[in-house]
Amino acid sequence: MLTSMRQLVLASLIAFPLTTIAASPSSSLFVSPKKDLVFSLNVPNDTSSSDLFFSLAFPVSPSWVAVGLGASTMGGNPLVLMAYPSASGDSVTISPRRSYGHSEPVYDSGINVTALPGTGLFNDTTYVFEGVCSNCRSWSHNGKIDISSAAQEMVYAIGPSAGTASNNPRESLKVHESYGSFTMDLVHATGAGGVPVIPTVKDITSVGAAQKLAKSGYKDNKAILHAVFMILAFVGIWPFGILVLRVGGSPRWHAINQTVSFGLVLVGAILGFVISTSYNRSKKFNTPHQVIGILVFVFVIIQLGLGFLHHRIYKKTQQPTKIAPVHVWLGRLVILLGVVNGFTGFPLALSPGYDFALLGVVSFVLLSFLAILFIEPWARAQPEVQQPPAGYIVGDPQTPVRMGVPPQGARQFV
Ligand code: HEM
Ligand code: HEM
Ligand SMILES: *[C@@H]1O[C@H](CO)[C@@H](O)[C@H](O)[C@H]1NC(C)=O
Ligand SMILES: *[C@@H]1O[C@H](CO)[C@@H](O)[C@H](O)[C@H]1NC(C)=O
Ligand SMILES: *[C@@H]1O[C@H](CO)[C@@H](O)[C@H](O)[C@H]1NC(C)=O
Repeated sequence: MLTSMRQLVLASLIAFPLTTIAASPSSSLFVSPKKDLVFSLNVPNDTSSSDLFFSLAFPVSPSWVAVGLGASTMGGNPLVLMAYPSASGDSVTISPRRSYGHSEPVYDSGINVTALPGTGLFNDTTYVFEGVCSNCRSWSHNGKIDISSAAQEMVYAIGPSAGTASNNPRESLKVHESYGSFTMDLVHATGAGGVPVIPTVKDITSVGAAQKLAKSGYKDNKAILHAVFMILAFVGIWPFGILVLRVGGSPRWHAINQTVSFGLVLVGAILGFVISTSYNRSKKFNTPHQVIGILVFVFVIIQLGLGFLHHRIYKKTQQPTKIAPVHVWLGRLVILLGVVNGFTGFPLALSPGYDFALLGVVSFVLLSFLAILFIEPWARAQPEVQQPPAGYIVGDPQTPVRMGVPPQGARQFV
């Protein structure tokens, strides 16, 4: 559905003459499989020139598009010509970037791309960038294109729908929804210099370019798993562990529950560190989400240690330990901080709207939690479930370990 709409949108662009109908300069043309990115390149045959003229066209829905010159992978040092809607939405921001592996390409102010007339939003449906780059034939770390090649390697990528609208060439991106590679015939693209006009035909297809790799439906699964594991742990399993102890009265299952949850947080944190390196916004590990996240992770390790330590000492002495209140209050703090940190995670991932869903889940869990805590002492008060109160005794099946009612004069674990 979306695909066919994009195609329709692009077809309408193509029915619209973008510049004067003068003979277009020689060019090679690449059209992405879903026709949601069209890239046309002209290599001026004037040997004294190092310019490259190019046009990029994309329908309104993707947040960004990019073509990388000179490589077939992100790690092959391509020079990335990226475009997205301007803040006002009626023009195009060009963002020349450099790519350093499987992470968000980095803006490079040294790449000199100039916009030319013909850049803008057309028919409210299609963005077009027409411009010239004066230094895009070679770049540092031996990056280059070979203008005598009939099969120069290139990459392209297209962002997910909606999102970016900015005049900032360093704008943060979500990862591509689709990407791939192609080769371009630069001999075919060579002729008198000028902006290559994207042809006005309905069934636009590549000319002087051959599709290689083509992928779509890509998502940052590591970021999704990070969010799922962390929210499951902090909003679900960990608070449940408090009930296991308070209502269920089982320190043993409490320990098992919290250890399982710790496993989730450990994997979630490792994923958090890995995804941090994928985006320019998080590479420096200085966002509130990452700082709070790392603190919480450290607290969680301490908390697990305190739990086991308390348990060992208690088993030996059968006395409430000094660790208990620390474990209780650090535990509450850690859960609270972790939940709060979920709300800073979605904006960092450029999906602030998910915070509403998270708020719904957190409210539901909190209400259920309070309801259970209030109902439980009431149910306990019924004669048939009355049991002699006891302290914190584990592994002794003879000993009731209900924690809701404090033993007379004794400090309670929870
Ligand atoms: C937020 C920005 C980006 C991130 C985080 C990112 C991340 C990644 C990752 C993780 C892969 C590997 C996918 C897999 O193994 O299935 C990949 C592949 C790819 N990406 Fe990106 N990418 C970004 C932007 C771009 C841009 C701007 C381009 C094009 C100029 C691009 C072109 C490609 C291509 C062609 C591949 C397949 C070849 C390869 O593995 O390098 N990416 N990207
Ligand atoms: C308290 C524990 C944490 C919770 C509850 C949490 C939760 C979340 C959530 C819900 C997201 C949104 C994910 C998405 O929409 O794709 C997110 C993103 C993120 N988290 Fe965490 N997180 C925690 C700890 C950490 C830690 C320790 C790090 C790394 C130091 C980290 C790094 C990141 C990064 C970099 C993103 C953004 C990914 C992107 O830009 O697409 N998080 N987190
Ligand atoms: C785009 O503009 C051209 C020229 O004005 C017009 O013929 C065409 O119908 C328009 N297409 C859409 C989808 O508005
Ligand atoms: C940038 O490119 C334009 C157009 O080719 C050119 O006129 C200008 O001199 C270039 N500037 C630099 C700093 O290279
Ligand atoms: C450049 O190409 C044009 C045709 O596109 C041709 O007329 C012209 O002579 C060429 N110039 C050089 C220097 O080869």
